[in-house]
Amino acid sequence: MMSSHIASAIGHPNIALIKYWGNRDHNLRLPSNGSLSMTLGDLETVTQVTFDPSMTEDRLYLNENAISGPSLDRVSLHLDVIRTMAKLSFKAEIISHSNFPVGAGIASSASGFAALTVAAAAAAGLELNPSQLSRIARLGSGSACRSIFGGYVEWKAGTNDHNSFAETIADQDHWDLVDIIVIVEEGHKSVGSTSGHKLAESSPLQDARIHDTERRLSICRQAILQRDFLSLASIVEEDSNMMHAIMMTSRPQLLYWRPETVAIMKSIQEWRHAGMQVCFTIDAGPNVHCLCPSRYKDQVGDLLKQIPGVIRLIHSVPGGAAHLLPIKSPSID
Ligand code: PMV
Repeated sequence: MMSSHIASAIGHPNIALIKYWGNRDHNLRLPSNGSLSMTLGDLETVTQVTFDPSMTEDRLYLNENAISGPSLDRVSLHLDVIRTMAKLSFKAEIISHSNFPVGAGIASSASGFAALTVAAAAAAGLELNPSQLSRIARLGSGSACRSIFGGYVEWKAGTNDHNSFAETIADQDHWDLVDIIVIVEEGHKSVGSTSGHKLAESSPLQDARIHDTERRLSICRQAILQRDFLSLASIVEEDSNMMHAIMMTSRPQLLYWRPETVAIMKSIQEWRHAGMQVCFTIDAGPNVHCLCPSRYKDQVGDLLKQIPGVIRLIHSVPGGAAHLLPIKSPSID
């Protein structure tokens, strides 16, 4: 087989500071609103894609487990986009490893589809720029379009398939924030984000949230560019609460929080009122992302560990863009 049909790539998840929730087009994953995130450098997914003319169906392995059913179908559909662009009909073997728990409110689909897009495009012989890769990654998982880029990243909602993609607004060294992910529940969430996005429009509050997005984006963008933590803290918490208000008022309603989630939110706000630079944001799950400048991370970590129900903490600093990795050639003895 030609060596150009294999490629490996690394992608990092990201934490949304201004959240994406709801689509104007569910098939194309065109979001109802723009969003902003920080790429998480300590967490990673490494994915190798091999297009093989002798295979009769796609095969997917996640952390050594063979995967079938809807997860494989979603990956195959994503590869079809790349196969069509490259005029390639070969099926593929996809081997993927993540160094963090998947499906627990840490965006494994973001790092997964970012790494898959970069690896599969290269394996198929396509030469694409980061905007094009971001656009394609978006089709697999909306937030994956942000994980193509490193540092602090904005996804402009756009109006169609071609103009909805992300870009870096400040690189990973711009601000030494740390995300301390407070795990209160491991394992898969009950309602994934693809289904959740479809419920957003059933909330009578979603229109108001969408109309207010430019204000939140602008405050958040400025806070990042000026490294103004207190402005960031209040807009990030407000935005997270707004998204969860949509979830809680959807039909049927989605309530991702556990009692421990609320206890952590309240503690973080008390610590901030007492003078610490720390805030929270929560994705589609019960685990809390606790953000602080790195000089506070040990103090915040020690306090978080004392809260009953906290299982463990996962730390991450800002990280870089998704990119290709060298292929390990089999050793010849
Ligand atoms: O990209 P998806 O479909 O996994 O949706 C991500 C949704 C949130 O994580 C809750 C918010 C966001 O902007 O990342």
